[in-house]
Amino acid sequence: MKAVIRRKYGPPETLSVAEIEKPMMKEDEVFIKVHATTVNRTDCAIVTGKPFIMRLFLGLFKPRQIVPGTDFAGQILAVGKGVTNFRINDRVFGFGDDGIQSQAQFMSHPVKKAIAHMPNKMSYEHAVASLEGAHYAFNFINKVNVAPGQKVMVNGATGAIGSAMIQLLTYYGARVTATCNTKNVTLIKSLGVARIIDYKKEDFTKDSEKYDFVFDAVGKSTFGKCKRLLKKRGVYISSELGPWVQNPFLALITPLIGGKKVKFPLPTNIMRSIEFVKKMIAEDVFRPVIDKTYALDEVAEAYKYVCSGNKTGNVILSMS
Ligand SMILES: NC(=O)c1ccc[n+]([C@@H]2O[C@H](COP(=O)([O-])OP(=O)(O)OC[C@H]3O[C@@H](n4cnc5c(N)ncnc54)[C@H](OP(=O)(O)O)[C@@H]3O)[C@@H](O)[C@H]2O)c1
Repeated sequence: MKAVIRRKYGPPETLSVAEIEKPMMKEDEVFIKVHATTVNRTDCAIVTGKPFIMRLFLGLFKPRQIVPGTDFAGQILAVGKGVTNFRINDRVFGFGDDGIQSQAQFMSHPVKKAIAHMPNKMSYEHAVASLEGAHYAFNFINKVNVAPGQKVMVNGATGAIGSAMIQLLTYYGARVTATCNTKNVTLIKSLGVARIIDYKKEDFTKDSEKYDFVFDAVGKSTFGKCKRLLKKRGVYISSELGPWVQNPFLALITPLIGGKKVKFPLPTNIMRSIEFVKKMIAEDVFRPVIDKTYALDEVAEAYKYVCSGNKTGNVILSMS
C-alpha cells in the first residue's frame, strides 16, 4: 500500500510517500480502507517532535511510528474475531492524538480506542474534519460551565479548534465575540458569533466589554494581557503552553489566589467528544470548516501549509 513515511523528526521535507506492507489486523481490531485524513496541528507536533516533551511519548531520538496520522474516515474491509460492534462495509471515523498511523491507504484500528460510525450521508472529508478541532474545543469548554447568555471571547476563530469552539459555544447559548482575519469575517459570522473583531485591524485585548470566559484557541495571547477582559471570577484558557510555558503553572496558582483564573485542559475521552459532535451533526448545528484538500503525493505541501499556522479550519489529505 501507499503511505506517508518518515524515519526521523524534522520539517515537512522529511516526509515522503512510499510502498509499504499493509498492517496486520489483531483480534480486537478492524481493518480500514482510509478515504480521508486531515493534516492538523497535532500531526505537525508529531512530525517535527516539537514541543520536545512530545518525544517522551513518541520516541526520544526518533519516532517509533514511521507512518504519521491522527485521524481517519474510511470503510471497514475486515473485522477481527473479537469485534462485535462493527461490520464489513461500515463507514467509520476516529481520532487518536498519540498517532494512529492513518496517513496510509489502509490501517488497523483497535475498537476499544476512539472509533465510531460516521454520521449518515456525510462525506469522508467532512467527517474527518469534525474530529481533532472539535475534540479540543469540547474539552476546553468542559473545563468550565458555560451557561446560556454568558459572554465568551474566542481568539482565533478560524483555526480548527476555534471554528469548532464557536459552534459549540453557540450551541450552549453563549454570546460569542470572536477574532478572525479580514478575509474570513463572513464565514465566521455564519457560524453563529454575535460580534467579530478583525484581528488585522484591532487588538482584542483592548476591548471594552467584560467576559465570563476568554478562550484563546490559537494560543497567541497571555493571561496577563487578557485579564482586563475578564469579569471578577472569569476564566482564561489557552490552547498553548504560553510564551514562557506559564499556563500550566498559572492554572495551579491562580485558583489559590482567588478571582480571575487560568485553567489548562488536558484533553481526554475522545469517544465522548466524537459522540457529542455526532449529536450536533445529527441536529444540523455543526459543520466543519474545510480549507484545502491535498492528494497523498502532495503531503509535504499540506504539512508546510498547516505548520505555517495560516490554515482556515481543516486541511484534508485525500486517499482516494
Ligand atoms: N492544547 C492542545 O491540546 C492542542 C492541540 C492541538 C493544537 N493545539 C494548538 O492550538 C493552536 C490552534 O490550532 P488550530 O489547528 O486550531 O489552528 P491554527 O492552524 O493554529 O489556526 C490558524 C488560524 O489562526 C489564525 N490566526 C493566526 N494568528 C492569529 C492571531 N494572532 N489572532 C487571531 N487569529 C490568528 C490564522 O489566521 P491567518 O490566516 O490570518 O493567519 C488561521 O486562520 C495551535 O497553536 C496548536 O499548536 C493545541
